[in-house]
Amino acid sequence: MAKKNKKNWYIPVGQSITELDKKVLAFQDCGVLVPPRTLIKTPEQIEGIRRSGVVNTGVLDLVASEIRAGMSTAEIDRLVYEYTMDHGAIPAPLNYEGFPKSVCTSVNEVVCHGIPSEDEILEEGDIINVDVSTILDGYYSDASRMFVIGETTPEKQRLVDVARECLEIGMKAAQPWGFVGDIGKAIAKHAHKNGFSVVRDMCGHGVGLEFHEEPEVDHYDTRRRGMLLVPGMTFTIEPMINMGTWEVFVDEEDDWTVVTEDELPSAQWEHTFVMTEHGLEILTH
Ligand code: MF3
Ligand code: CO
Repeated sequence: MAKKNKKNWYIPVGQSITELDKKVLAFQDCGVLVPPRTLIKTPEQIEGIRRSGVVNTGVLDLVASEIRAGMSTAEIDRLVYEYTMDHGAIPAPLNYEGFPKSVCTSVNEVVCHGIPSEDEILEEGDIINVDVSTILDGYYSDASRMFVIGETTPEKQRLVDVARECLEIGMKAAQPWGFVGDIGKAIAKHAHKNGFSVVRDMCGHGVGLEFHEEPEVDHYDTRRRGMLLVPGMTFTIEPMINMGTWEVFVDEEDDWTVVTEDELPSAQWEHTFVMTEHGLEILTH
């Protein structure tokens, strides 16, 4: 039998141990995967992320008021860049791991990470995810919405609606002192009940002091408990729901655009949340 690793990586060095720390340590002693102390944000950090979220929401509201048929996705990118900079913030996607634009625009069968382009003109019936991420004073926020251009087919509209319900259901499933795994389990159940599938290759994530932090938040049922959800953790839930197969591929030409394997449509909604003693609070309202 191997010796259990007793190295305590949770205990903060040079910080006093709080009641909350003691509770986390008790879970750790039971063999539960607990978040490193750095993932539990201070009230000051949460306020910083909230302020970043206010700008992020302003960007999405602007896009909501301007988006229409005949517009290119490059125009959306310009709106995002200008509004963000005018508010003293930085679009997090710009130059992130080489991403060339300020926002991700993912139309119809594009699942996520679509790159805005002058050549991509929105048409009546398109469904598009606009994924906005903002850095303000070093704090990150991240949220996305679906937009329906004019009127779409009943099936695509239902996909958009069910994807939104999946986010809401995932949000309710996440409880303090529960587990990350509860989220994907609840989301997958709702998606499957409606005849849709859940993307497995991309996940939600911790966010706040960096763009992508621990934990990974899967939106499907991994059949694992995953990390303990502790008040003060900040993370996204961003289910990608497909009309057909859950399988996806990455466009070889740009190395970014994620597309459904069967090229059927996909929809996604995202918020940044903080875990409180009573459940999740949205920081990107
Ligand atoms: N906004 C995406 C997310 O929800 C990440 C985009 S990375 C980028 O996690 F480089 F494509 F912007
Ligand atoms: Co995200």
